[in-house]
Amino acid sequence: MKIIIGNWKMNGNAEMLDEMVSNLAAVNTENRVILCVPATLLRPGTGAVMIGAQNVSKYESGAHTGDISANLVSATGASVTLVGHSECREAQHDTNADVARRAELALNNDIMPIICVGETATERENGKIHEIIERGVRESIPHNATNGGFIIAYEPRWAIGTGITASGDEIANAHKIIRSILNEMGFDETPVLYGGSVTAINSAEIMKIDHVDGVLVGGASLKKDDFIPIITSIK
Ligand code: PGA
Repeated sequence: MKIIIGNWKMNGNAEMLDEMVSNLAAVNTENRVILCVPATLLRPGTGAVMIGAQNVSKYESGAHTGDISANLVSATGASVTLVGHSECREAQHDTNADVARRAELALNNDIMPIICVGETATERENGKIHEIIERGVRESIPHNATNGGFIIAYEPRWAIGTGITASGDEIANAHKIIRSILNEMGFDETPVLYGGSVTAINSAEIMKIDHVDGVLVGGASLKKDDFIPIITSIK
């Protein structure tokens, strides 16, 4: 079983979501499907798809205009959230500690966090992939995390929305590093997903790489004809 996550970013509307949810209900798969949608579309999931947010606040409540707490997300019936997505890390200047705080509050509200980590193009050029990934994983996992109670997504930032996918060797190498750190931390049941320009063309190949437990899909998750073939590309 693999985990396929769609990240709609700031796209979509209620009608599109209704349609996608009903299309997903007809898909014959054992893979777990999660859709992370804009906050205004949050709702309970169905048997075929879990619905998630794209971020939660690092504050519990209070004077944080425009921010949405894990508690408010939980009240919509959604059960998952991304945290530390590179677009959020950049826009909100999040450190790993900030991401850990968001994940901590998500867990406190019965929301499963998908913690994203990954290096920038410059960090990659400077040979810092291992260091960035290792710190990302160690520092972004909150103290209240449990084995299997969260997901790690490895998303090289230069591969997000660019049409450039990391090579099989690069993905294998990063996932091997992450797997061994997680095992050492006692999180051997925590899935590790790859994200960055995943499409139906490359998804099966990527999910066959050792220690790749699924994929996080941005652009190709918006249309059923792009997204469903990714879900069915592998058992
Ligand atoms: P992409 O986005 O698939 O469009 O590269 C991935 C992501 O943002 O998670």
